[in-house]
Amino acid sequence: MRRYFRVLSLCVALAFFSALYAFGQLASSLEARTAGRPDSGQEISANPGEGRRLRRRRQQRRPGGCENSVSVAFWDPYWRLSPDVCGVNCFMGSARRDDEAQKVHQLEPVHLAVVACGARLEETLTMLKSAVLFSSKALNFHIFTEDHLHGDFQKALNSWPAVHRHKFNYTTYPITFPNENSNEWKKLFKPCASQRLFLPLILNQVDSLLYVDTDILFLQPVEEIWNFLSRFNSSHLAAMAPEHEEPRIAWYNRFARHPYYGKTGVNSGVMLMNMTRIRATYFKNDMTSIPLSWEDLLMPLLQKYKLNITWADQDLLNIIFHHNPERLYVFPCQWNYRPDHCIYGSNCAAAEEHGVFILHGNRGVYHDDKQPVFRAIYEAIQKYSFGGDPLRDLLHPLEANLQRPSNTYCGRVAHLFTKRLRWSIGNLPHRQTPAGG
Ligand SMILES: *[C@@H]1O[C@H](CO)[C@@H](O)[C@H](O)[C@H]1NC(C)=O
Ligand SMILES: *[C@@H]1O[C@H](CO)[C@@H](O)[C@H](O)[C@H]1NC(C)=O
Ligand SMILES: *[C@@H]1O[C@H](CO)[C@@H](O)[C@H](O)[C@H]1NC(C)=O
Ligand SMILES: *[C@@H]1O[C@H](CO)[C@@H](O)[C@H](O)[C@H]1NC(C)=O
Repeated sequence: MRRYFRVLSLCVALAFFSALYAFGQLASSLEARTAGRPDSGQEISANPGEGRRLRRRRQQRRPGGCENSVSVAFWDPYWRLSPDVCGVNCFMGSARRDDEAQKVHQLEPVHLAVVACGARLEETLTMLKSAVLFSSKALNFHIFTEDHLHGDFQKALNSWPAVHRHKFNYTTYPITFPNENSNEWKKLFKPCASQRLFLPLILNQVDSLLYVDTDILFLQPVEEIWNFLSRFNSSHLAAMAPEHEEPRIAWYNRFARHPYYGKTGVNSGVMLMNMTRIRATYFKNDMTSIPLSWEDLLMPLLQKYKLNITWADQDLLNIIFHHNPERLYVFPCQWNYRPDHCIYGSNCAAAEEHGVFILHGNRGVYHDDKQPVFRAIYEAIQKYSFGGDPLRDLLHPLEANLQRPSNTYCGRVAHLFTKRLRWSIGNLPHRQTPAGG
């Protein structure tokens, strides 16, 4: 009786997989029919082999034999299909695709890039420390810096204790510009200010990247923001937070002499990119009627607007996404929390609800006395040494420090700054065992 049951369930399973296989075949034939239609996806590929190559690369990365035995074509093509050919299988197909995407994300390390010039060594190391402290995913740092700082970065990072050192790999790179226009770029901006625009071209083997300014602090695991990549629809290729929440004190809508994204522009201090898509996309622009690739877009854009831009490459990004708004995923302000969000009173509603996730101490507030809360957070992380108890040595002294009465608006909402940090520290693996303290 039991054997009979086992044979029966085997048959059912086989029938199920055959059905899946049949759907898979159907899907690939549909895909073959739609391939090459310019409206079937956002990637306009200059050469027809490109799409296939990308797909093959994705298949290679896919772990485990199980999915492959069903037919990879089954879920891959659905997001490329136009609605009229996407029948009853779409729902199933897209659900599978999400699972797959998540799996790929789990295997790939988080790629984090920073551009550090001038006296930014310590600040950058503190940012990297905050990334390492709370993340459980493998991290890959891409550090662009002036030649004399390479050794300092290597020395510092290699000295971190093994248990943290094992969580990341890193590479240091010199500041580089595209050859023909190298001098022009160097002349126009501060030494490294435009470097981040070229990351999709320089790191041409990297699929996706989180770029952050040196004055960023992660108050929760980096993988949390990385997960926005899987929320991108097929048009999205980058994600940023608004430059301002409150138009009355915002900059772009009052002063900018160039187009900008949305109501108040976007801030590029925390920028998540799917660089595969950036490299494959042709961008609408106000210089020619033909869309231009990222590479061909930047220099003409700079030439056109160089007399009108104030915040360097952030302005260029705002111009680009003004003309291509559907390509930008906008995440809320607690993911890029700046003094602007509290300096004249708290205006980041999402942070009031959830706490600050990523702190951005722009305008030097980690190093002067204008916003003591920002400085206190920075110094707490900077002074914390790996191996200490993060609750006893980081959070408790910080909270005690922030309890002192404050005469700044940001100081009055100090509890928002530690809300998420407390959660992150509570979730650290070794804190869950009683022996940890
Ligand atoms: C660092 O690189 C080595 C060699 O490529 C690899 O085996 C290891 O898994 C990487 N570590 C992380 C955290 O990505
Ligand atoms: C630059 O600003 C000036 C003054 O506001 C404006 O007249 C001009 O059109 C702007 N240039 C561009 C390329 O938008
Ligand atoms: C980035 O976009 C490419 C092309 O659409 C896609 O294959 C890849 O999975 C995306 N990367 C991530 C991390 O979502
Ligand atoms: C993706 O979302 C943006 C809004 O963020 C929207 O403008 C765009 O049309 C969407 N793309 C697709 C293909 O749904």
